[in-house]
Amino acid sequence: MTHQWHSSDKFNRQAEGWDENPRRLGIAESVFRALSETVHFKAWHEVLEFGCGTGLVTMQVAPLVRKLTAIDTSHRMLGVLEGKIMATETKNIESRCLDLTDPGEMHLLPKGHFNVVYASMTLHHIDDTAAFLKEIAGLLAPGGTLAIADLDHEDGYFHDDAEEKVHPGFERRALATMLEAAGLKNPAFRTAMTVEKKNRAGRQASYPIFLATATKPAA
Ligand SMILES: C[S@@+](CC[C@H](N)C(=O)[O-])C[C@H]1O[C@@H](n2cnc3c(N)ncnc32)[C@H](O)[C@@H]1O
Repeated sequence: MTHQWHSSDKFNRQAEGWDENPRRLGIAESVFRALSETVHFKAWHEVLEFGCGTGLVTMQVAPLVRKLTAIDTSHRMLGVLEGKIMATETKNIESRCLDLTDPGEMHLLPKGHFNVVYASMTLHHIDDTAAFLKEIAGLLAPGGTLAIADLDHEDGYFHDDAEEKVHPGFERRALATMLEAAGLKNPAFRTAMTVEKKNRAGRQASYPIFLATATKPAA
């Protein structure tokens, strides 16, 4: 099973100012648009988001579904989300501070239950991608969809902190193979947006973000 790269200290520190970064708001908006066009959320859906952060995508998905379980390892990121839940009197989001790379915590969630499991910009923070995808696929109900938005394979300079342990994005073909190895069918990719930014090396560079989807076979 996977182990955690322990990014929660960093995200605890960043939580308060997280939503002030226009690039993050833009990514969340584009990922939500790609998700809603691709996944077709239904009012009866039970949905899980892992790495929900402050809920930039969460708060947009929640009105479309029956229940959204929002998971993160950073209690301060979740604290910002909980403030939004209270302010908007949203009733169908359950936020939980769990590390899904910890087998004991993963097993607190019901297997074979969720119609959609999704994440935005979280998979690159998880060390053992293939093992994690197998575990998370086990939470899907038959016919359910896994949807993951993340960076295409990048030059390694996207993140500002050179010491941070992250994957430099993902090769689409390699990720498709891992999704199939996790027992999912029909992996498909689209580009949700491209981030244009000056990277850590000071170069202006383009960083596409994909949305990958794959489905659990119906029983
Ligand atoms: C780059 S942020 C993205 C947050 C949010 N999805 C957004 O788009 O603003 C990655 C998030 O994943 C969370 N995270 C990292 N590892 C995790 C894990 N093993 N389980 C759950 N959440 C995790 C971090 O705490 C952080 O909030």
